[in-house]
Amino acid sequence: MEQSVYSTPPLDANHAGLRVLVASSEAHPLIKTGGLADVAASLPAALRQLGHDARLILPAYPSATRQLREPRVHCELRIPGCRASVRLLEGLHPDHELPVYLVEAPDYFGREGNPYTDLSGRDWGDNAERFLLFSRAVALIAQGLPAIGWRPEVLHANDWQTGLAPALLHAQPERPAMVFTIHNLAYQGLFDRATFERIGLPAALWNLSGLEFHQRMSFIKGGIVFADRVNTVSPTYANEVRSARFGCGLDGLLRQIGGRFSGILNGIDYQAWDPASDPMILQPYSPDSFGLKVENKLDLQREFGLPRSEETFLLGYVGRLVDQKGVDLILEILPELLTDARTQIVMQGAGERRTEQALSEMAARHPHQIGVYVGYDERRAHRIEAGCDAFLMPSRFEPCGLNQLYSLRYGTPPIAHRTGGLADTIVNLTPETLANQSATGFLFDEARAEALREGVERARRLYRDQPEAWRALASNGMTQDFSWESSARQYLRLYTEILVERRAHRETEASAALA
Ligand code: ADP
Ligand code: GLC
Repeated sequence: MEQSVYSTPPLDANHAGLRVLVASSEAHPLIKTGGLADVAASLPAALRQLGHDARLILPAYPSATRQLREPRVHCELRIPGCRASVRLLEGLHPDHELPVYLVEAPDYFGREGNPYTDLSGRDWGDNAERFLLFSRAVALIAQGLPAIGWRPEVLHANDWQTGLAPALLHAQPERPAMVFTIHNLAYQGLFDRATFERIGLPAALWNLSGLEFHQRMSFIKGGIVFADRVNTVSPTYANEVRSARFGCGLDGLLRQIGGRFSGILNGIDYQAWDPASDPMILQPYSPDSFGLKVENKLDLQREFGLPRSEETFLLGYVGRLVDQKGVDLILEILPELLTDARTQIVMQGAGERRTEQALSEMAARHPHQIGVYVGYDERRAHRIEAGCDAFLMPSRFEPCGLNQLYSLRYGTPPIAHRTGGLADTIVNLTPETLANQSATGFLFDEARAEALREGVERARRLYRDQPEAWRALASNGMTQDFSWESSARQYLRLYTEILVERRAHRETEASAALA
């Protein structure tokens, strides 16, 4: 029998047709600054593959509106406390059969470029208003607007930009089950008290068991405090953030919410990231034809203006240039690393100006060994994954990390700090792990230049001295399964757990009322 759009389905993790609204401030390729965008597009697509009715909601940034397939205006939204005209657009995701809602409020989201910052890299001055408006729209739709005729049973909110939606919804009788995913605890959406008073949130939210955080308003606390379940994107990071070192001031709260908090590893989109069929790379290859990969190296060297040589050990880096990623550690070891003339590195990233400059200067000093591209370029990111021999990820912390998963898939073993999702997805090479074919990369224990240098040395030695072992290592990585299906199933279990719990709670209340 067909489920009605408002009915509650039978509750077990395998049943089909769960209605899930995924709310995010970015989703690939509509708009992207980092891994959140990949996840926000892939997870609902994977849920749909499993037979569930997942839909995505985003702010209508110009680039998102431009790329929406079959767009139409759905309805006007009357947002409490907001005089601006807000419309809800509906269409399909460019790459998946995934319904997408866009919250169109031109004064708030009608700006080109980065969704969070202006051209000079400063946060937009009205980010609190912008993401409150978005959260209010999400909260409205999550309760089932008659004009839409669809009511989600689960709201899955992501990162601080959507943190206020659970806060606004938690006391509503018709609210869905709520999951809040932390993709990076370092970004919390903190604003001063005057902003809290100006934007018109209920005064009751200003207390320590609400949004207040060291005399400021914290958007991320809205999600952590008020969602039914909170998770982050790897089991190790979920443990790390319960400690003062990684908890960014929220470790106490995360310890306190105990069993409500867990870690679920991200997957990756194996269609978009497949070296055997990637249209962005020169030469497709697979574990069976690993020898062909070198053609991509020669092509990458050409693209970056480096001398072309098959024997060179070519390292790669792609990522945001922020303290988290440890690019300064790479810069520190480069001069010594490059005393070996048969080592090169290509790096691509955008972010902090001083790091962009330092990279460019380093490349100017070593034009035959360092290639740098400052900026964001999807195509080149694929070509770096395919063309390099090994990939650097010396992140100080890494909630999950997607680039190491892409590297594994492309037979480009990662050299990474043993932290967060990197620790959960890379198996360090040792004589034992090489022998039992589980090794996939090189992990080092501390985010220090010396430890990174040793990691690179280990990799370079294996690459030069034991080509067969290198090939085996790369092949182990290529055949790992980090597809979305298993992660999506874990999210389904989480959703179902809440639904079962809430149903039991309602039943207890009903029988108490009858007694
Ligand atoms: P984070 O979300 O912290 O930035 P992840 O490893 O989870 O780190 O995801 C980063 C994503 O952004 C990957 O898909 C990566 O390829 C992409 N990316 C980051 N910087 C760039 C860039 N300069 N050009 C192209 N892609 C980039
Ligand atoms: C964040 C994290 C990154 C994670 C991504 C997607 O930006 O920094 O580690 O992979 O979100 O969850």
